[in-house]
Amino acid sequence: MIIAPSLLAADFACFGKEAQRADKAGADWLHMDIMDGHFVPNISFGPDAVRVVRPLTKLTIEAHLMCSRPEILLEPFAKAGADRITIHVELGEQVTPLIWKIRSLGKKVGLAINPGTAMSSLEPFLDKVDLVLVMTVNPGFGGQSFITETLPKIQQAFSWRAEKNLKYRIEVDGGINFQTAAECARAGADTFVAGTGLFGQLSLKRAIAKMRKMAKENSPIKELNVELDNSFLSTPRNL
Ligand code: DX5
Ligand code: ZN
Repeated sequence: MIIAPSLLAADFACFGKEAQRADKAGADWLHMDIMDGHFVPNISFGPDAVRVVRPLTKLTIEAHLMCSRPEILLEPFAKAGADRITIHVELGEQVTPLIWKIRSLGKKVGLAINPGTAMSSLEPFLDKVDLVLVMTVNPGFGGQSFITETLPKIQQAFSWRAEKNLKYRIEVDGGINFQTAAECARAGADTFVAGTGLFGQLSLKRAIAKMRKMAKENSPIKELNVELDNSFLSTPRNL
């Protein structure tokens, strides 16, 4: 199970220290939300924020690009030190060239899908990505409530992975707390992004450990490796 605190919910006045705090608290990845004020109605931060954080931690940095024109940002984020770059399937025809561009930069590829987008739009890309990000809120802001109707999408991503013998991770993002992390794990998620649900707790360390435990206990995957191996997969339990 991967627990990825989202720095969007961290204290912006001491960004670097917050990244180190997440590292010391046992996070697996750092999730950095990039919002352009166009694809989503909010603006967050750019490649310089990744550049600042990069030397302070060995954690994997995941840049989640909620941006209309990611093509102009891929190289800057790769150079700034992002290890994984996630783009949105809503970009349509741009998706294939963007995936290849991220690969050519030597980075892992994630593909995100919004709550209102049909899973069929994701299917053609499944064998080309390392991670599927099922958005569990409409992107743009931290602190929103989890949308329960997204759970079948996680199950769909999970079934497809087994059927097609693929190895992508299944990540969830938005309104993830201990309870919703357990629900998502039961549906097949293995990678959990949480902002408010982690940084809002008194002890970040205890919160990360608790979320990981809840996820593990509820997962249909009985044994986990860093690289997902389909031989460990079983059918998801009923929700
Ligand atoms: C939402 C972002 C999320 C956000 C999650 O647009 O993609 O990563 O930081 O925040 P919480 O966990 O507070 O819902
Ligand atoms: Zn995100």
